[in-house]
Amino acid sequence: MEDNAVLEEGFNGLTRMQEALPASWYFDPAHYARELREIWGRNWVYLCRADTLDGPRSFRSFQVAGQPVLLVRDQEGVLQGFFNTCRHRGSLLCPQAEGTLKKAMITCPYHQWVYDLTGRLRATGPMRRVEGFDRDDYPLHRVRVAEWGGFVFVNLDPDASSFEELYGAETAYVANWPLEELKVGHVFSKTLNCNWKAFWENYNECLHCPNIHPELCELVPIYGRAIMARRDDPDWAEHAEDQAPHRSGGLRTGAETWSMDGAAQGRLPGLSDEDVAAGQRYVTVTPSVFIAHHADYVRIVKITPTGPETMELTAEWLFLPDTLARPDFDADKITRFGILVMEQDGGACELNHAGMRASAFRNGVLMQEEYEVFLFQQWVREQLGEAPKSEGAASRASRRMPVSE
Ligand code: FES
Ligand SMILES: [Fe+2]
Repeated sequence: MEDNAVLEEGFNGLTRMQEALPASWYFDPAHYARELREIWGRNWVYLCRADTLDGPRSFRSFQVAGQPVLLVRDQEGVLQGFFNTCRHRGSLLCPQAEGTLKKAMITCPYHQWVYDLTGRLRATGPMRRVEGFDRDDYPLHRVRVAEWGGFVFVNLDPDASSFEELYGAETAYVANWPLEELKVGHVFSKTLNCNWKAFWENYNECLHCPNIHPELCELVPIYGRAIMARRDDPDWAEHAEDQAPHRSGGLRTGAETWSMDGAAQGRLPGLSDEDVAAGQRYVTVTPSVFIAHHADYVRIVKITPTGPETMELTAEWLFLPDTLARPDFDADKITRFGILVMEQDGGACELNHAGMRASAFRNGVLMQEEYEVFLFQQWVREQLGEAPKSEGAASRASRRMPVSE
């Protein structure tokens, strides 16, 4: 399907109704396994902030696409990624979630094979030499690592395009934010009883905003019109110069950031007036994370599927260390607002997911405003080989500037 055939020219909308994804894709275990393999196993997945691996020999372990992955900082300070599996008989190498290795070696806890921090096999424990075995043939299996702005991503696919190639244009959009300097000030996690795609579909439309997010709609007036951006309005050209927030997509007059009272606590250095006036800027790395950039802080929202019908949502708030140290700094004013919005969205996603279990429901329909949901679903189809790859849909689905959450 060509983008042009379904997307309006000139404003953001679908030219005609589109069928949504099959309902079974939201709960069928075999389909879920296919998505882990084809989508989560082939895209860049956000893991953590780089400074949570603090110094040489620190490590953290993760599940990515249902597979064990290990991140280790080597003696030179470089982050190395490996599958968390021993080349001998496949034991987990590091069963702990995080820690610091005593020596610059990874020793398998099962039979004591020893690897250096670049993954080379250096010793085979008590085992005697055996004909046909060469240590050099058994380094750890590597996982590709990319760092941007202090965020760490991995990709299990050795042939995937580089992070820079895929997301360079999008990350340039928030180039003024001092991302590397920011520190995690608060973390919030929540299990959602929904398929991971329901989360992204909700993220990609604002038809639910007036009903589900009264407080957010007051802060971001355009959301109160059930749209996300200026060009979502078919009559946008008539108001093209109108900078009123309900047209431009900025924050309500007088507000500076996403917080309970709209007030910012300082301003991150380097931001332009335009950056601040935008109110929110998003970097979206589908399927694992979106990063919301504001005047005084940044919020990471990480998605981890834990089964066909469950997912873990983890939010991290990043601040300048100086801000965190200020005696009058009130992180609660910021985090409470984000948690309120995420709880509202989480509830909506669970509601959506539960209803899709009805056998009479085969698939939904997408209406004019749901163009970003369509692009996301088209991206899913393409990843699964169910639709021909169209670069337009793929890149647009991972590059939405205005989103509603
Ligand atoms: S499985 Fe690791 S040393 Fe045997
Ligand atoms: Fe929402």
